[in-house]
Amino acid sequence: MIKYIIIFALLFVFAKSFHGQDIQAISTDFEGHDKNYNLNLIKNEKKRCGNFESLNLDNMNLHVIKNNIIQSDHIQHISLHNNNLDDIYTILDNVPNLFCLNLSRNEINIYNGHELRHLNLKMLDLSYQKISEAKDLEEQDEETNDIYKYIIFNSTGMKLPNLQYLDLSGNDISTLLWDFNVSFPQLIQLDLINVKADEVEPAFFSKIPKSLRVLHLENNYLHNLTLQNMAEVTALYLDENPILRIIDIASKKLKILSLSNCPSLGHGNFDIPFLEQLDLSMNDFETVSYINFQVFRSLRILLLDYNKLQKIPLISDLQQLNELSLNFNMIKDIPSNIFSYFPSLKKLSLRGNKIEHIEKDSFLGLNNLEYLNLSENELRRLPYNWATSLINLKYLNMNSNQFPNILDLAVNSAVVSLKHLSVKDNIFTKKITTAELAYLPNATTVYVV
Ligand SMILES: *[C@@H]1O[C@H](CO)[C@@H](O)[C@H](O)[C@H]1NC(C)=O
Ligand SMILES: *[C@@H]1O[C@H](CO)[C@@H](O)[C@H](O)[C@H]1NC(C)=O
Ligand SMILES: *[C@@H]1O[C@H](CO)[C@@H](O)[C@H](O)[C@H]1NC(C)=O
Ligand SMILES: *[C@@H]1O[C@H](CO)[C@@H](O)[C@H](O)[C@H]1NC(C)=O
Ligand SMILES: *[C@@H]1O[C@H](CO)[C@@H](O)[C@H](O)[C@H]1NC(C)=O
Ligand SMILES: *[C@@H]1O[C@H](CO)[C@@H](O)[C@H](O)[C@H]1NC(C)=O
Repeated sequence: MIKYIIIFALLFVFAKSFHGQDIQAISTDFEGHDKNYNLNLIKNEKKRCGNFESLNLDNMNLHVIKNNIIQSDHIQHISLHNNNLDDIYTILDNVPNLFCLNLSRNEINIYNGHELRHLNLKMLDLSYQKISEAKDLEEQDEETNDIYKYIIFNSTGMKLPNLQYLDLSGNDISTLLWDFNVSFPQLIQLDLINVKADEVEPAFFSKIPKSLRVLHLENNYLHNLTLQNMAEVTALYLDENPILRIIDIASKKLKILSLSNCPSLGHGNFDIPFLEQLDLSMNDFETVSYINFQVFRSLRILLLDYNKLQKIPLISDLQQLNELSLNFNMIKDIPSNIFSYFPSLKKLSLRGNKIEHIEKDSFLGLNNLEYLNLSENELRRLPYNWATSLINLKYLNMNSNQFPNILDLAVNSAVVSLKHLSVKDNIFTKKITTAELAYLPNATTVYVV
């Protein structure tokens, strides 16, 4: 590392005297810039209680908590994760400003009503209780197919008028009570990840409160999903439903739909005119030709990573698309004009494909493109002026390709907008000369190690 810095410091001095004007800086921190361009906006991070005024009683093998033992106006967060509590008794009575309660991995029987009342609580984690009604039932009668119809999350006795986030993941649940919305009238996000659901009951969206916006149903056994009335939900996560085959969604509110890792996905019927973000990664798609993208006319972000696409998909209806990610597919070349249907594209990521060829006019029409990731491909030489039409290109990632010489990138001074060029892990990376650097656009920082 030190060696490089010295070499490049020398180069820099050389270059200055060579041209008598400022030339490229050489730097090592491309990742910092790359992070700003993270394409995976769709994944919203898991909700967490945070570090405010908290009482941590995790992993203490507690079976009982004495009434009134916790009394404080200051406590905002109580964590009782991984104990053996089967009830929360009256611990909430003397912590009026409690904001977040973490009861994950206890032994609370969520199928029997529990008293749980608090005026200010915003977040409640009831995930992964260590008893399971379903398991008991299964032992009783393994032949009953309808078993999951009767696994009810019993919210009777729960009155949490300001709760915004409820995590019920990891408990077997097939249905909610009719007055679920009365118990949690302000709920915004409901997590039902890994609850062994095989369907979303038709009445589901009339049981949830009108305030609900975000619904997590990942990692279940949904197979035929028809959602015609999704109340006010704007974000729906259905990732990792391995047998999801038929999907039929109509919503005028939905903005985010995540359907990654649903390898059985076959027939889809979508009427979601205002959808903005769609994740279809990890689905073994060899083509997307049977998806009617015309119905996603507001789409801004499309992720198709980790599929088996051999070509850039020809999609002509996504006039608003800002970000397209096709990482880790099997794309070999990029034909002329192929992106002319994406006039609004700002970020394009083609990392981890098998791209060997790019035509002179492959990227024609991408006048708004700012970010291009072509790393981890098999490029050796690019045609003269291939990037000249990218008049707004700021970040270019060419790491881990096969370029023998930096001049083979054919990124010349005509690409005036280019600010950051990363070329790590190429054949030439150890020998760049000042003369070669002089060909690059003069405002560009080059990242080599
Ligand atoms: C671009 O590729 C590099 C690997 O060379 C990776 O570290 C980075 O996360 C990628 N950026 C995006 C936005 O995909
Ligand atoms: C509850 O605690 C567990 C273990 O620390 C943690 O993984 C989980 O994210 C916490 N839940 C919330 C809502 O913070
Ligand atoms: C829910 O719990 C309450 C109180 O324990 C009980 O009376 C009621 O029958 C339960 N409801 C269901 C549907 O199991
Ligand atoms: C709960 O839902 C029912 C039926 O949809 C509705 O009549 C009632 O007003 C709702 N209550 C609250 C507090 O949202
Ligand atoms: C899928 O569900 C819909 C609505 O519940 C139903 O009309 C349709 O027949 C089902 N399709 C299959 C193949 O089960
Ligand atoms: C970079 O090049 C442009 C046009 O080629 C020129 O206008 C500008 O002054 C140059 N900037 C520097 C810092 O040399």
